[in-house]
Amino acid sequence: MRSDRRVVALLAALVSVLACAADEPPQAAEARAGAPGIGDTDFPTDGNGGYNVAHYDLAVDYTPATKRLDGVATIRAAATQDLSSFNLDLTGLDVRRVTVDGSPARFTRKGDELTVTPDGPIGDKARFSVKVSYSGLPKPAKDRANLGTYGFIPTSDGAFVASEPNGSKTWFPSNDHPADKATFDFTITVPAGLTAVANGELTGQPTTSGGKTTYRWRERHPMATYLATATLGKFELRQGTTPGGIRDFAAVDPRFKGSLDKLYKTSAEVTDYWSTVFGPYPFSSTGGVVDDYSAGYALENQTKPIYGGFVPDESIIAHELAHQWFGNSLTIKRWKDLWLNEGFATYAEWLWSEHKGKKTADAIFKELHNRAATDPIWTYPPGRAKPDDLFNQSVYARGGMTLHALRRAVGDETFFKLLKTWSADHRYGHVTTEQFIDLAQRLSGKDLRPLFDAWLFQPRRPA
Ligand code: ARG
Ligand code: ZN
Repeated sequence: MRSDRRVVALLAALVSVLACAADEPPQAAEARAGAPGIGDTDFPTDGNGGYNVAHYDLAVDYTPATKRLDGVATIRAAATQDLSSFNLDLTGLDVRRVTVDGSPARFTRKGDELTVTPDGPIGDKARFSVKVSYSGLPKPAKDRANLGTYGFIPTSDGAFVASEPNGSKTWFPSNDHPADKATFDFTITVPAGLTAVANGELTGQPTTSGGKTTYRWRERHPMATYLATATLGKFELRQGTTPGGIRDFAAVDPRFKGSLDKLYKTSAEVTDYWSTVFGPYPFSSTGGVVDDYSAGYALENQTKPIYGGFVPDESIIAHELAHQWFGNSLTIKRWKDLWLNEGFATYAEWLWSEHKGKKTADAIFKELHNRAATDPIWTYPPGRAKPDDLFNQSVYARGGMTLHALRRAVGDETFFKLLKTWSADHRYGHVTTEQFIDLAQRLSGKDLRPLFDAWLFQPRRPA
C-alpha cells in the first residue's frame, strides 16, 4: 500500500517533468483571449490584459521627406494567464508580419487593437517574444477634449514625439497604459545630418552609411509607454555632467539655438536641487529637448522632457524634472490619480520659487485660495481626474494646493520626510492616491482623511 503510493507519486512527478521538458503549457485547454483593455475603466481599451511587457526593442527608420516610418518592434513579455490570443495597441500603420517566439502568428486589426493569435497557446507565466514588422505614415492623435495633438507628430524637419496619455500606439505596437512599464532599446535611423533623440543613454556613436545615420539609445529603467520618445530633426546638442554628477543632455532646434546653454544649465541645477529635496535622482541622465513644433505643452519624457515650440522658463523646467520622480519613477496605475503627477509637479514649481527667494509656496497657495468661489477649480475635484478633461487646471493647481494644505497640517519636517519616503518606497513602481493618504497618516500620526477629502474629492472650495 505504502510503496504503491510512492510509485504513483513518482510517476506523477515524472509526467510533470516530461510535460515541462516538452514545453507543454499546463492547462492549455483553458487558454482564453487576453482582454482588449488593461482594466482602467476610464480608458477601457487602453493597454491590454493577459501579459506584462518586460522590454521593448524598437527599430524605427523615418524619412521626413516622405513621412514614412518603417518599424520592427520586438516585445518581450510574460503571460499572466493562459493565452489563446492577446492584443497590442496600434493606430493606423500597416502590419506586415507578426511572429511569436520566432513562429509566424495570425493577426487581425480592429480600431486601435491588433490581435495576435500564436499557433499554440501561451501558458500562464510563460515568457514570450513578439516581433511586429510594420510601416506607413504615422498619424498623431487629435483629441476634441483638452489633449490637443500628441503621439508621433511629423514636423518640417523630422518628428516631435510626446505621447501622454495614450499616443505611443501612433508609432509602435504597445501595451499602451502606464500600469505596464518596461525597459526600452531604440534603434532610430534618419537621413544623415539629422539627430534622433530617445530616452536614456546613447549606447555608442551613431553610425552612418548609405546617406542614413542610426542612433542607438537605451532606457534601462522601467518606463511608461507615454514617456517614450524618438524625437528627430535638426538639433544643436550640449552634453556633460551636472555639478552633482548626473549626465546632462540638452538638444534644441536651430530656431532656439540661443537657449541651448540655458536649458542645459537650468536642467542641471534643478536636477541636483530636486535630488536633495525628493531623494536620489532615479534615472541615468537628465536634460531636455526644445523642438520647433508648437504643441502648446511640455511633456516629462523620461530623462529628457520635451518643450513644444517655446523656450522653457525655470518654473516649467522645475515642473518637468519633478515629474522624473513623480510620474516617471512613481507611476500611476490609473489615470484618475493624475494629481499624483501634476499636483506634485505643480507644487514643485512653488518650491522652486521659494528656493529662489521669490514667492513662497504659502503666498502662491493663498493667491489661489482667494480665487472666487465660482472659479472652475472648485467644482472639479482633482483627486478623480475625468477622462474627458484629464489635464484640467484643477488637477494641477488644486492638486498642488492639496500638498500645501498637507504641509501646513503636518509641519515642514514631516512633510519633506514624507516626500522622500514616498519616492523611496515606490521607486520605479506604481502608486495610488490611497497609498499616499495612508503614508501621510502613518508618518504624521494624524487623521488626515477630512483634509484629503475636502481638497481632493469635494466639488467646492475647501475652507
Ligand atoms: N504632463 C504634461 C505636463 O507636464 C502635460 C501633457 C499634456 N498632454 C497632452 N496631450 N496635451 O504638464
Ligand atoms: Zn506636468
